[in-house]
This record gives sequence, structure tokens and C-alpha cells, in this order.
Amino acid sequence: MAQKVQNRVRHAGHWGVPGLTSVRLFNQAKEERDEMQLTWPGRPSRRGASWSAWIAALLLAVCGGASAGIADTKHNLGSGPGPAGRNQTSDTAEICVFCHTPHGGDVNAPAPLWNKRLGAAGAPPGGGSYTTYDTLQTPSLDGTVAAVGSISMACLSCHDGTQAMDNIINAPGSGGLVADGGGNDGRAFTWTGSTVNAAGRISGGAALIGTDLSNDHPIGIQYCGGGLTGSGAVVSGTCRDGDFVQPLTQTINSNQVFWVDTGGAGKQRTDLPLYVRATGGLGPMVECASCHDPHVSTGQAGPTGTGRVAGETFLRISNASSAVCTACHVK
Ligand code: HEC
Ligand code: HEC
Ligand code: HEC
Ligand code: HEC
Repeated sequence: MAQKVQNRVRHAGHWGVPGLTSVRLFNQAKEERDEMQLTWPGRPSRRGASWSAWIAALLLAVCGGASAGIADTKHNLGSGPGPAGRNQTSDTAEICVFCHTPHGGDVNAPAPLWNKRLGAAGAPPGGGSYTTYDTLQTPSLDGTVAAVGSISMACLSCHDGTQAMDNIINAPGSGGLVADGGGNDGRAFTWTGSTVNAAGRISGGAALIGTDLSNDHPIGIQYCGGGLTGSGAVVSGTCRDGDFVQPLTQTINSNQVFWVDTGGAGKQRTDLPLYVRATGGLGPMVECASCHDPHVSTGQAGPTGTGRVAGETFLRISNASSAVCTACHVK
């Protein structure tokens, strides 16, 4: 019997969650499995009362494996189980494929193994150009705004609405590689959802950021007005705008990495990463993924020791009491 349950639990990790996620979920399932063996309520055939405990344990294990993480968010665009009413295709149950490929990703911006066509040098993938925050001419802005790039370009490859979400360079299965991902209208997948059009582009609602970024928190903006450099674990220089929390830094693979700490030792996904461009010498900057982690579900626990949970809308930390804002701004 125990063997049978183990198989069921293991299977739960694979429901509509292929690739690397299944590894993570399987590990979770394994922990639950070990725990179940420790707290096993007894063979159900011996005592009728054990059945309910047995079923409860089984349900907990089966449901628990899929309850946290990207499968449970609006970034699960696949046909498998996930939140009801989300924008969703019927063409594949894969999740990661809409953003990552193990091979052949777009390198126009340093987005990891990116499976969508990225615009070059500040241009949206579908053509045209972005209007950046500095064009609003607020007198308080101190930092230099760079052309749209870095990880923000990856988010905007769906959120600017100029190309289909099924613009994917390496489609599921053998021989699925097409260098431009099928162009603006992608792979002709079929979509359902209230904020996606027939071609698969985000077509409305708050998630349609568009190409005018002057009404959005600045991105591609120097942290604290600029002026910081790093070497090893030491941040040097003086912020041009003093009303900011000092970031931390570290050298990894000869790259200088910066982040704003939100608790726990070292750098975790609940810290707010700052991004450095290869050219321009502007130093650490704020991009979309400084505030958002595109994989976390609402309330998902941060790594042990951080004391943090993820916020709604993919925020790296809960924004209760505006904790996201005050992590950077001394206000
Ligand atoms: C909606 C787009 C999207 C989807 C879907 C997505 N990712 Fe990501 N992923 C990103 C972006 C953007 C980054 C870079 C974020 C950053 O700079 O922290 C990233 C970074 C990563 C990283 C490196 C950073 C880290 O946190 O370790 C890993 C590993 C990763 N993704 C794995 C996955 C896996 C596995 C899946 C599927 C279960 C997946 N991602 C689905 C957008 C996505
Ligand atoms: C493959 C396409 C795709 C990519 C790439 C992508 N998103 Fe999304 N995102 C979506 C879709 C679809 C929705 C849901 C839209 C809706 O329901 O109206 C969404 C929703 C969101 C939401 C709102 C969530 C909510 O609960 O209301 C946030 C925040 C978000 N995305 C941030 C990001 C960030 C930041 C990145 C880059 C790190 C990113 N997204 C990359 C497709 C994408
Ligand atoms: C400085 C932090 C920060 C940056 C940078 C940032 N966001 Fe957000 N974003 C937030 C916060 C906070 C919310 C939640 C707002 C709310 O609760 O209504 C949010 C909400 C969203 C939403 C959901 C809107 C809604 O009200 O449903 C989307 C989509 C989104 N962000 C996408 C992006 C994209 C794409 C970028 C980069 C172009 C980006 N964000 C950059 C902090 C940020
Ligand atoms: C990752 C760090 C970070 C986080 C988190 C963050 N900001 Fe900012 N914010 C910045 C930077 C950097 C600037 C640019 C400052 C400058 O150059 O003057 C900025 C600018 C601003 C500005 C002023 C823009 C101007 O025209 O002068 C406002 C207002 C603002 N942020 C509000 C918020 C709010 C509200 C939140 C929370 C939802 C937030 N920020 C979260 C880093 C951050």
C-alpha cells in the first residue's frame, strides 16, 4: 500500500508541470513522502477510522505538491491545471517554454535562456519604439534612464502587447526551432482568456503595459541617482540621490552583482536585484525583475531564514505597509 501511495504522490508532481519544475515538485513530494512514512496513520484495512486519516494524508500530499510556485499563477499559460480564467493555450501543457528554452535562446538582452524574440537596443520586438519615464520630465528624477533593455526587455516581450505570447523560438518537441519565433503573431496557438486576442497578444487590462512607459515606475534607471561602483563585497561611491537604502554587492564569475537586502544571509530571491548593463557604465539599475519574480505565487514562503513571503502580482516580497517601496526608498 505504501508503495502505491508513493507512486501517486510522485505522479502528482508531474501533472502538467514538465521539465525542471517536475524535479522541484518531485523533491517536495519526496519530502512529503518521507513525512508520510513517519506519520503513517496505519493500514486502512485494519481499522475503518483510519480511512479518513489516510485519505486526508493522501489529499494533502497530492494537492500540496502543486500548491505553490509558477503553476499556480497567471504565468502558467499552458493547458494544465492552474488558476481559472487565466490567459491559456490549448496547444501545450508546458509552462517554462513560454519564457525559457534549454537551447537556442535570444541573446539580445541578458535574460536567461530566453525563448522569445527580443527587440534590439530599446525597440519592442514587434517594431516601433518605447517612450521612457524621463520624457515625463519630473524635476525630482536624478538618475539617468537607459534605453529599454536588460531583463525588462524580457518582460515586455509579452507585456508591451506587440507580439504573441506564442512567439517562442524553440517550440515543444523535436525540430521546433525557428529563429524569429514565428514573428509578431508567433506559432498560431489557440488562446482563451479575457485579456488575450486571437493572435495570442496581451490585449487589455492592467497587464498590458504597452510601449509608453512614462506612466510606469522608472525602469532602466540608475539606483539612487547613480554614482555607485562595486568590487568584491565593497560598494564604493556616493549616491547622487541620498534617500536610498545602501545596496550590497558580490563578485560572481567576474561579474559584479548588486542587490537591495530584505533579510536573510546572502542573496536570495526575496532580495531586490539591481542589474548592470555591459555597456554605458551606468552601474546598478532598477528593472522590472527588481520588484517582481515572475515565478512566485501569492504568499509563497521565501527561502528559510529570510522571514519573507512573496506578494500578490509576483512581487518578490509582500508589499504590506509598502515594504517593497521602503526596501529601496528611505521615505
Ligand atoms: C513568464 C515568463 C517566465 C516563465 C513562464 C518562467 N520563467 Fe524562469 N525566469 C523568467 C525571467 C524573466 C527570469 C530572470 C529573472 C531575474 O532576473 O531574476 C527567469 C529566471 C529563471 C531562473 C534563474 C533565476 C533563478 O531564480 O534561479 C531559473 C532557474 C528559471 N527562471 C527557471 C524557470 C523554470 C524551471 C520555469 C518553468 C517551471 C520558468 N522559469 C518559467 C521568466 C519566466
Ligand atoms: C510569456 C508571456 C509573459 C512574459 C514573458 C511575462 N509575463 Fe507577466 N503576465 C503574462 C500574462 C498572460 C499575464 C496575465 C494577464 C491577465 O490576466 O490580464 C501576466 C501577468 C503579470 C502580472 C500581474 C499578475 C496578477 O496577478 O495580476 C505581473 C505583475 C507580471 N505579469 C509581471 C511580469 C514581469 C515582471 C515579467 C518579467 C520578469 C513578466 N511578467 C513576463 C505574460 C507574460
Ligand atoms: C519599483 C518596483 C516595480 C518595478 C520596477 C516594476 N513593478 Fe510592476 N508592480 C509593482 C507593484 C508594487 C505592483 C502592485 C501594484 C498593485 O498592487 O496594484 C506592480 C504591479 C504590476 C502589474 C499588475 C498590475 C495590476 O494592477 O494588476 C504588472 C502587469 C506589472 N507590475 C508589470 C511590470 C513590468 C512589465 C515591469 C517592467 C516594465 C514592472 N512591473 C516594473 C512594482 C514594480
Ligand atoms: C528596487 C528599488 C526600488 C523600489 C523597490 C522602488 N523604487 Fe521607486 N525609485 C527607485 C529609483 C532608483 C528611482 C529613481 C530615483 C531618481 O533617479 O531620482 C525611483 C523613483 C521613484 C519615484 C520618483 C520618480 C521621479 O520622477 O522623481 C517615485 C514616486 C517612486 N520611485 C515610487 C516608488 C513606489 C511607490 C514604490 C513601491 C511601489 C517604489 N518606488 C519602489 C527605486 C525603487
